[in-house]
Amino acid sequence: VEYETIRVEQRGRVGWITLDRPEALNALNTRSMTEVVAAATAFDDAPDVGAIVVTGSEKAFAAGADIKEMEGKSGLEMSLSDHFGAWGRFAAVRTPVIAAVSGYALGGGCELALMCDIILASDRAKFGQPEIQLGVIPGMGGTQRLVRALGYYKAAELVLTGRMIDAGEAERVGLVSRVVPAADLLNEADAVARTIAEKPLPALYAAKAALDVALESTLAEGLRFERQAFFALFDTADQKEGMAAFREKRPPNFTNR
Ligand code: HXC
Repeated sequence: VEYETIRVEQRGRVGWITLDRPEALNALNTRSMTEVVAAATAFDDAPDVGAIVVTGSEKAFAAGADIKEMEGKSGLEMSLSDHFGAWGRFAAVRTPVIAAVSGYALGGGCELALMCDIILASDRAKFGQPEIQLGVIPGMGGTQRLVRALGYYKAAELVLTGRMIDAGEAERVGLVSRVVPAADLLNEADAVARTIAEKPLPALYAAKAALDVALESTLAEGLRFERQAFFALFDTADQKEGMAAFREKRPPNFTNR
């Protein structure tokens, strides 16, 4: 596949997707959405990929949805084309996804990070939902995922004011998993991704699915889902191997089955 707006590479069991529209600070247009979704679902389908990293440049993870592309559209056009609807397929990827964020993660860029499972931020990262200043609101999940991640009051402040926050504040409010020095961001992302990618895939898929259910359901439903997923893993070779390796005091040799 020829990608125009991203660079894609597999390193070991880790799939890398690098947003690459430097002239627009990686603003997300229809083309980049299509490409990111295609690359992520291809990695998701690859049996030898156990983690995916999404990153941008040091200056910008992504400065939002592409304002110039959206500006002239009518509500009807946006609705009939389900503008940005394909991001749902990115959020539905079963493989754990790590966002490695440096520079601007604004609007749709912040929302793309929020669709990932782990957000590693460089100390130069800046997050925000500036849509209100454009006369719109977040449209890729920001209002919903921020409330769930940060609680109502912090989320409401960000969405209603459009204020940008730095990496330190983002870490304090729970918008990022961890902050690292900018120079270490990609190495740290690689280390986290490798750590995950060497775990057994059936358990990784089950863990991500159960974590997702926690954001979508009542506690009772979530606990039922978790228990069923936990039971199902006892029919995998990797559960037998992981527990045998513990008993035999040796490292496990997982086969992702
Ligand atoms: C299109 C963008 C863009 C965007 C930056 N650019 N952000 N183009 N859409 N979201 C372009 C600029 O037009 C400019 O190109 C080039 O990238 C560099 O940007 P500058 O503004 O010159 O850089 P700087 O002065 O460093 O300022 C950086 C910035 C600013 C603070 C991040 O670019 C900015 O405020 N961008 C918009 C942020 C935003 O509002 N995002 C939310 C978008 S709405 P030219 O060729 O003009 O010089 C959204 C909705 C999501 O995300 C819902 C989807 C359904």
